[in-house]
Amino acid sequence: QTPRKRAAALLAWYDAHRRDLPWRAGPGERADPYAVWLSEIMLQQTTVATVRGYYEAFLARWPTVEALAAAPLEDVLAAWAGLGYYARARNLHACAGRVARELGGRFPQSEAALRGLPGVGPYTAGAIAAIAFDAPSAAIDGNVERVMARLHAIAAPLRQAKPLVREKVEEMLPAARAGDFAQALMDLGATVCTPRAPNCGACPLAADCVAYRCGVAEAYPIKGKKAE
Ligand code: ADE
Repeated sequence: QTPRKRAAALLAWYDAHRRDLPWRAGPGERADPYAVWLSEIMLQQTTVATVRGYYEAFLARWPTVEALAAAPLEDVLAAWAGLGYYARARNLHACAGRVARELGGRFPQSEAALRGLPGVGPYTAGAIAAIAFDAPSAAIDGNVERVMARLHAIAAPLRQAKPLVREKVEEMLPAARAGDFAQALMDLGATVCTPRAPNCGACPLAADCVAYRCGVAEAYPIKGKKAE
């Protein structure tokens, strides 16, 4: 299959199996960039299960980027307690201040401009651009790396294979539904193409997956000499 057909198969799978997560807009709805940004910062180093409650509490207390920017930093840090990695909370507050005061309350739409914001790295910039603005941006996290390593039986450890992984995701990017595509890849990695015992029988990409066809899906991604 061509990469575009593969993406279409993945989107069809997502339509049938998408996880119902509070930061996801319903089918055909546009997501609020503030809500997408908030969820992606929380999800950087914390599991979906833990993030849910915090995400809803933050949105209820600070429903807009202006509200969050106006909050005292101590309140934000206190509300963050339990999520860990407090630098994220400081960056969150700094970023809200920047957007509210310097950008008229609007998040930038391009991946490049998003990357200039505090706490927003390559993964997060790609995720926000795709999910909030439907920009054709790749959002590559560990789950997506694993999916691509298996699909293409990438023989190098991920540390060296990052450019190849990016190329493989970018060649699949669909012309529409970029946000759904990004989240479909995340869901596939989280629920089907799992680190151990992947459920290849349920995978919409199995027919194209080199590692699966060779019976060695679990051997990918290849580990480096030292811990990855
Ligand atoms: N992990 C990071 N971002 C995510 C998202 N938007 N949906 C599910 N898992 C995620």
